[in-house]
Formats: sequence, C-alpha cells, structure tokens
Amino acid sequence: MCGIVGYVGERDISSVLLVGLERLSYRGYDSSGISIISNGELSTWKKQGKIVELNNLLSGLSIKGSLGIGQTRWATHGVPNEVNAHPHFSETKKIALVHNGIIENYMEIKKRLIKNGHIFRSETDTEVLIHSIEEHLETTDSLLEALEKTLSEIVGTYSIATISEADPEKIVIARKGSPLIIALGKDENFVSSDINAILTHTKKVIYLEDNEIGYVTKTSTFVKEIGGSEVQKEVKVIDWSPTDAEKNGYEHYMLKEIFEQPSVIRNIISKYIDKDNNITLSKIHQPNLDISNVNRFIIQACGTSWHAGLIAKYLIESYARVLTEVDISSEFRYRQMITQGHDIVMAISQSGETADTLACIREAKSKFFKVLSFVNVKESSIDRESDGVVYSYAGQEIGVASTKNFIAQLATIYIFSIHLGLAKKHLNKEQASEMIQELRRIPDYIESILKKSEEIRTIAEKYCFSREFLFIGRGVNYPTALEGALKLKEISYIHATGYAAGELKHGPIALIDAKLPVVCVAPQTLTYEKMVSNIQEVKTRKGKTIIIATQGDEDIKSLADDIIYIPKASEDLTPILASVPLQLISYYIALKLDCDVDQPRNLAKSVTVE
Ligand code: G6P
Repeated sequence: MCGIVGYVGERDISSVLLVGLERLSYRGYDSSGISIISNGELSTWKKQGKIVELNNLLSGLSIKGSLGIGQTRWATHGVPNEVNAHPHFSETKKIALVHNGIIENYMEIKKRLIKNGHIFRSETDTEVLIHSIEEHLETTDSLLEALEKTLSEIVGTYSIATISEADPEKIVIARKGSPLIIALGKDENFVSSDINAILTHTKKVIYLEDNEIGYVTKTSTFVKEIGGSEVQKEVKVIDWSPTDAEKNGYEHYMLKEIFEQPSVIRNIISKYIDKDNNITLSKIHQPNLDISNVNRFIIQACGTSWHAGLIAKYLIESYARVLTEVDISSEFRYRQMITQGHDIVMAISQSGETADTLACIREAKSKFFKVLSFVNVKESSIDRESDGVVYSYAGQEIGVASTKNFIAQLATIYIFSIHLGLAKKHLNKEQASEMIQELRRIPDYIESILKKSEEIRTIAEKYCFSREFLFIGRGVNYPTALEGALKLKEISYIHATGYAAGELKHGPIALIDAKLPVVCVAPQTLTYEKMVSNIQEVKTRKGKTIIIATQGDEDIKSLADDIIYIPKASEDLTPILASVPLQLISYYIALKLDCDVDQPRNLAKSVTVE
C-alpha cells in the first residue's frame, strides 16, 4: 500500500527519492511521484504505473536540490492516474504534500474550501489537506502550524510529509494511524513510512507515534504532540540487514522466499529453543500479561495470517485445552466483544501495521483485554502496542503473497502452543521434548520437497489454463487448503476456493466436472480415511485430482491424476510441509501465465487503510 519517502541532505536528491520509492514498491502501488525544491523553486513529477515510468520522465533532467518528498500511491479515492497521484500541490505550486491513509470527512471540508474559492484538480481525499494548509498559511508563516491547524479538523488516518518554498529547509511530518519514521544520517535526514526505504543509508530511526507532528532539517529533528508540547523522542537502532531485500539470483522474491523456508525455521528454533529442548519466549511473560491464567484466546488477523490463526486454534485447544476463537479482523472490529475476564486477544500480523488488526487491538485494549501478538516486523505498531509479543523471525518478506512468513507463523505458533501446554500442565516435559524434536526435522523435510520443484512445475503447468480450482483439506489442513487457494488467487488471478473436504457434499460438489482441478491436501493424519472418501467423491464425478500425500502412501495413488509426496511428519506440522508444494504450484502457474508474481495487481503487502 502507499509508501512515503522524504530526504533532506546533499546527495543526488532525485535518485535518493527514486531508490527509496523503489524499495517501497513491494508494498503494492499504481502510481508514483516526487516533489523537489531546487534553487528555491518547487517542482513536481508524477506518473501512473511503475516507478520506471517516473524514472524515464526524470531522465535527462539535471535536478539540483537538497529537499524532497515522494510517494507510491495505491488508489483508494480516485482512479490511478497522474492527477490523483501524489505529491499534491497548492494553487500557487509552492507547497507539496504526500499522504498515506484516508481522510474520512474530506467531503465536508472540500465543500467549505470550494466555497472559499479553492479549485480542486483530483478525485482524492488527500487534496483537501493541501488547500487547507494553504488557507492557514494566510495567518501564519509556519508550515508546521498550518498543518497542525489543518489536522485539528481532520477525521481519519494519516502519515503526511509536506514541504514549502517558504521554508525550504524543512520536511514537516505528522502521523495518526499510519506509520511514519524519521531516519537519522550525518548531515542528512530521511522520513519514510517504512524502514525499507532508508535501510541502505542509516539504521538510526525515530518512530513517530499517533497524534505527533514535527519536522526534520539536514541536522535537526523536532517532534511535538498535535495541539500539545514537545516530545523527546528515543533514537532506536535497527538490527536488520538490507541484504534481505535482494533477490540473490532468484527470478522472483517469492521464489527466493519459498527457498528460504528451511533456514527460517532453523533460525526460529535457535531463537526460542535451547539444546535441551527448553522453550524461552521472553516477551510473552510481561508483568501485565499472565498467559498461565488465560481462559480464552480470541485470535484476529487478516489474509494469510488469519489462516495461521485457524491452525493456532487447533494447536492451542489440543495442547493447552484453552478455548480459542478465530475472527477476521475487519469482522471482529465491529462485533460486540464479550469480556469474561482472563481473555487474551491475539493478533497475528506479518507487517504489524495492518489497519484492521491494529484497530482491533486498540479496541480490545480499551475494553481491558490483554493483547498478545505474533508479528514479523519489530517495532511495528502492533509490536509496540501489544502487552506481549512473539516474533516470527522470518526476515524481510518482499513478495506481496506471503510464503515464508506463513511458515514462520506456523512454527512460532507451534512452539507457543507447546509452551502454553506445559504452563497449563496438559503436556509434560517428555511430550514437549518429543514435539520439539519433530519440529527440528522440518527444515530437512522442506528441503526434500524443494528438491522436487521441477516435478511440481510440470504438474502446475499441466493445469495452468484452468480458470478455476478447488482446494480441499480436513482438520489442521483445512486452513492449509484455504491458504493454497488464496495463494493461487493472489498471484495468478485464477478463481480458487478452499473448502473443508467434509463440506463438499453441502454445495461445492456441484462444481465438480472433468475440467475442474481439485487440489487435495491429504497427508496421513487422524482424518485421513475421511479425506480419502472425500477424494473418492471427487473422482467419481471425474474431477481432476492433484493430491498432496505422505511419502510411502501408495494406496492413494489410484485416486490421483497427479501426486506430490511430502515426508511423514507429526500431524500438526503437516500444514507447514503441505504448504510448500502449494506455494510452488501457485508460483509456477503464475509464472507460466506471465503474471507479476511479486507485485500482483490490486494487492498491497501492508494494508494500512481500513
Ligand atoms: C495483505 C497481504 C497478505 C497478508 C495480509 C495480512 O492482504 O497481501 O499477504 O496476509 O495483508 O497482513 P499482515 O501483515 O497483517 O500479516
């Protein structure tokens, strides 16, 4: 989703902004633009489409300057075109502004501004901000004050960066509900909505909190509360490496991330488990969060993370006997939560910034629930606002469709569930130790599946022209089937539905004919026999079956048009193993169909608006 970058310093300004935007592009966008103050004069360049278009527009121009802002836009209000692209500029073209988020009351403000003589060019909600700032600058010389007055009238979410010819040393910034950071260099400073844009330049950052406003110059920063006084901000040092953001010879980030999965799990094991199989989850035992007393978990998450949540329910209820509900964040947010005491709301989020998930934890905290989160991005909003946290340690994930992060979520949820089972005394040390041993085998097992990627590619290409797919599974592998279907939809634009195999008879069986590929997740688990009957029902109706089965299961072969074997593992770890061929099937289908695998149309990596 939209990304902001800003720079003040002596480097080549347009290339710093363009490189920053390129590093934000993984979030998903449909237009981009930059504004630069050069020789005291503000200029703006915008383009629909990929950043390369903006780069082409700028090529050959000699742009000097030491202050600029830029944005990648993911359209919400108004189609993706140059007029709606950011930065927006004032009537006089002397002030420019970029904005992530949504201004909910823009219609009423727009009406007032039009009455006052302002002429609007775009269909965006953002444009009210620039006209309002311009109006307030009639009574003050300070851009910060004009923005502050503007924000006092705004309902909605924002991260904002704005610059003005009248104050050519400063980038003025503000945040509410959408992330924004200041990154500190030597005689230069940056602003960004995402650490990735600045990681190659510096690792020292200041996180703006909601309702904060401020500015950066080349050598200074200033932050205050909107309508309040100055805030002394802590400078934090990021411990990630920008090399995470390289493709390392793979054709796509998604493929690289699929192949990183064994090392992701090895890393998670090294972070949380010692050589004697003891688990340490230091950030969940906070003074104000007592997980041993919990009566109920309410998991809420979106997309792939919600699928991880569905699997978490199976594990937590089975190992710790704690009642667990799972909800989609955008639904949970608007239902009446019933607090029973000793309930913990659990948020699962790769980015830690998903607007609906974040809003739910805020709502939950306002109702006195404790919040435990599983996040990948440290220092993200969800990380900072939760009472306890378990990091996924997946490293940076760039492909919009989540792969290694899903696997990392499943591994950390597995470890957490065992830990809780021990705390609740439903598991003993020996059982826990055996379960950890099972996890230790998983990286090698994934490697053995990855070795079959060419075989999986051949199967994927056989079905790539089907316009719909059905994915079925049972028990812990029902969410695996949902995730397999989501992956295919996301990157190949083929319609795919995930279903609990036992539900086939209640509707989806009507879809089955000789043309429909049905991906059956059927490892040898407790419900294996039931699953075989369900596959039989598909075969009887001439459906084409692609079966994910346990190595050595020869019997199921007779039901398979195509079969992909995964190593035999404990039932609760089969979602991790079965997901790998499903990811590869989606990848190779999308590749064959020439789709933009890493940045699928209309999708955003981090959905920071409701
Ligand atoms: C977007 C992404 C998905 C992701 C979902 C939740 O839709 O495209 O890949 O699963 O957001 O994101 P989160 O960062 O909260 O896990």
